[in-house]
Order: sequence, then C-alpha cells, then structure tokens
Amino acid sequence: MAMIHIARPGLGQEEKDAVLAVMDSGMIASGAVVSDFEKAFSTYIGMPCAVACSSGTTALELALRALGIGSGDKVLTTSYSFIASANCAVYVGASPVFTDIDPTSFLMTPAHVRDALEKHPDIKAIIAVHLFGQPCDMEAIMDIAKQRNLLVIEDCAQSHGAMFNGKKAGSFGDAACFSFYPTKNMTTSEGGMVLFKDPEISEKCRLLVSHGMKERYHHEIIGYNYRMTNIAAAIGIEQLKKLLGYNKARQRNAARLNKYIANPLIQTPMISPGCEHVFHQYTIKAQDRPRLAEYLQSKEIGYGIFYPLTIPEQKCYAGMGFETSFPCADTVKEEAISLPVHPALTKEELDRIADAVNSFK
Ligand SMILES: Cc1ncc(COP(=O)(O)O)c(C=O)c1O
Repeated sequence: MAMIHIARPGLGQEEKDAVLAVMDSGMIASGAVVSDFEKAFSTYIGMPCAVACSSGTTALELALRALGIGSGDKVLTTSYSFIASANCAVYVGASPVFTDIDPTSFLMTPAHVRDALEKHPDIKAIIAVHLFGQPCDMEAIMDIAKQRNLLVIEDCAQSHGAMFNGKKAGSFGDAACFSFYPTKNMTTSEGGMVLFKDPEISEKCRLLVSHGMKERYHHEIIGYNYRMTNIAAAIGIEQLKKLLGYNKARQRNAARLNKYIANPLIQTPMISPGCEHVFHQYTIKAQDRPRLAEYLQSKEIGYGIFYPLTIPEQKCYAGMGFETSFPCADTVKEEAISLPVHPALTKEELDRIADAVNSFK
C-alpha cells in the first residue's frame, strides 16, 4: 500500500517545454513571459490590472503598500489562516485586528466585520481570506466597506477560480492576492500575483515590485526586489490552462468523499450558499483529532493540520497585546484536519481515504 499524500503538484510535459523555451531564450529573469502571465491571469479573474511577484506573502505586502496602508493603520483580518494573512499588516507598520470565524465555513463573516468595526471604528482595510477554496460573502462585505469607505483586499492564496454568486473570488475588492506555491490549486513553484481595479495603484505596485524603477537605475520610490521570474511565469501560463480541469477534479473528489464518508465522529465540509468551492483543502472536523491523525497515519493516508494555532496566539505575536480568545477558531483549531483531495487522486485512493475515515472508532 502506497502512502496517499496530502498534495501533489501536477507538472507535465507542457510546463517542462515552457521552462526549456525560457532557458533557451536566455531571458530567465523577469520579462515578457511575466507580462504574458499577468495578462492571462487578470483576464481569467476579471480584474483589469496585474503585477506578478515572488510569493503570496509579497503579493499581500505589495497590495497594502500600493493602497497606502501603513504606520498606525488598523487592518481587519481573520484569526484563523496562514500567518501571512496578518504578517503583511505588520510588515507595513499597520496593526492587525483579528476576527473569529464561522465554525462551519471556517471564514470571517459579514457579522464578524460589523462587530469588529463597532469595537474599532478606525479600521482602514479588510483582508477577506477565502480559506480552503471557499469565498467569503463578498457581496455583504463589499456593502459594508462601501458604507464605511474601507479598502478591501482579498487573500485568494487558496481560492484560484472560486466564485461567489457567479463572480470570481479576487474580482470584488480593491486588490486581490494570489499564491502559486506548489501545494496551491495552480503553481509556478514559488510565486504570487496582485490584481487591482485602479490602474494608478497598480502602477505604484509595479514600481514597488522592482526597486521603484521606471527607467533603468532611476529609482522613483524605495521599492523591493519582489519580482517573478520568466521561468516561474512560464510554468504559471501552462498551469492556468489546466486550472479549470484541476478545480473540477478537486470538486469531483470532494463530492465523492462527501458521499462516502459516513461516520458520526466526523463532520464533512459544507458549501456555503452562493459559493463555488474549489477545495484547495477538504477539511473535516473530528473531536478526537489526535487519535484520527494517528489512525490515518497507520493507514498511510496523508493529512494536514491547518492550522494548529490561531494567528494571534503564535509565539511571534506574543506580548503584542492582541486579543487571543476566539471561541469558534479555538474549537476549529483543535478539530480541523484536511484530507487529500488533489486532482491526481484515483477513485481507488479516494475510496481508501473514505474507508479509513469510516472505520475510525
Ligand atoms: C491564506 C494564505 N495567504 C497567504 C499565503 C502566502 O503565500 P506564499 O506561501 O506564496 O507566500 C498563503 C500560503 O500558504 C495562504 O495560505
């Protein structure tokens, strides 16, 4: 019996050929292939402007900097995500304000946003994290943001191609940030992308991503080297062509697991109204998670614990005065466990996963 891994990036001959073509061209750093990837990706999401960068983390930092969020500003984000969803605020000198999550969708809800704004009326921006492949209620969040004149950044690191009420995640807010890390729904190896509605803000981001340079060695602002390479972009272009098929496979796999997993000790994932979930992760809940994890290991089934701690209780945030009690996130962090759902799984492997979960007592 072979181990079933939690993730497997699907790189084929197309990606290999595209990388070799870039290598043969000699233009392996940032260039025309990056521009082509930016155009293809912004068209796909339906946002007019795109700046490719080195990771999802730098995408978030760039979005905040380009939107003018900085020292002393408050940025609302979720307590339950990968740490980059909050670190980006810290990088720019802003202060994250954390919300709890809905225990079923694992997401920040409009009610959480309203509550936070009552406590912190000076919040300037909201980072809506579409965790595990499922979008937040972006219509309601955008309504609140419009009323209060707040900026909205969508963290789409886990939601390439997901939709809310028929509109792509990443096309609602002022900026959208994507990660192309190998475990994501599509990859460039390491890589990221920021999309913007406003061309002027996007132009500022384009300066920030490459040392503030418009003209070679003329630096308009202090920027960074957060550029994507042509090698990464060449992989991204091929992966984008495959994304729809990958997402459909993830959805089929999740539907099969949902159909066959029947164990009163396990809660399977639910799709929220209006959402097209792209199942970056298939996350179940089990009260006795440590024992389930051990059991899955014994059956050679990979799993992921996303996330064992909320962000504000991470060691690196200790002593910074953040609220650390979030009743739903505090329960979910003990119970959530993600099972393999990636596109490369066979029916037999999916049935092995379901059988293992069903035989857990
Ligand atoms: C929700 C979320 N935001 C941001 C990031 C950061 O992306 P990267 O790892 O490409 O820096 C990740 C990556 O795991 C993520 O899951």
